[in-house]
Amino acid sequence: MTVLGIDIGGSGIKGAPVDVTTGTLTEERYRVETPQPSNVDRVVAAVAEVAKRFGESDRIGITYPGVVLDGVTKTAANVHKSWRDAPAADLLAAAVGCPVTVLNDADAAGVAEMRFGAGRDRRGVVIMLTFGTGIGSAVFVDGRLVPNTELGHLELHGHEAERRASDRAREVHDLSWSDWARRVEAYLRHLEDLFWPDLMIIGGGVSKRSEKFLPHIDIRTRVVPAELQNNAGIVGAALTAAGEVHQ
Ligand code: BGC
Repeated sequence: MTVLGIDIGGSGIKGAPVDVTTGTLTEERYRVETPQPSNVDRVVAAVAEVAKRFGESDRIGITYPGVVLDGVTKTAANVHKSWRDAPAADLLAAAVGCPVTVLNDADAAGVAEMRFGAGRDRRGVVIMLTFGTGIGSAVFVDGRLVPNTELGHLELHGHEAERRASDRAREVHDLSWSDWARRVEAYLRHLEDLFWPDLMIIGGGVSKRSEKFLPHIDIRTRVVPAELQNNAGIVGAALTAAGEVHQ
């Protein structure tokens, strides 16, 4: 069975076939720019282009950077507003010509990280956070996902956390790594006081530069960088589409 994972992000749409037993990509991933504006029609066409690159697939898992309920995209914090209440799974399945599963991007990354990365074999409460354009979250209880948590939108000191502590905020406000780490630390403290997790995993593009900020973060909970980095969303989406995820 050929299973693709496709990750819809704010700047790029990336996909590759995945070996779901090992969590590895079986071909080099293919990336196209996310159309701007990122309205439904244009993004669906771009996803179809990525899918076509790999020939026929049996199933495709697709991530979306917002809440997804039963294949319908409900929110659109960092993409075009036409995604609110769009029947994404139906539109995408029609465009790619095979069954698809659509899930939140951070949930997908978390699923991959729990299976093959920093959360492997971890029981208890694990919170995976992705720092990128926004802040995404995935919460696991004994390895089982609580879908669609939106912890990046928690309010902290009167601001939405992702406006102050995402990787984009670091760039936009031209923050040093230590200044950004202080904001992340305040955010993680708030989360640990609310959830009392056993482990926090830091994912997203920043995870490969964890030595720049993790040493500045001193909280009660154990915090580790994600291990799958860039491909976590693709792998998690494929695992979910293949029915490999305990739901
Ligand atoms: C969205 C989340 C998403 C995160 C990362 C947030 O703005 O609300 O659903 O997971 O960005 O893309």
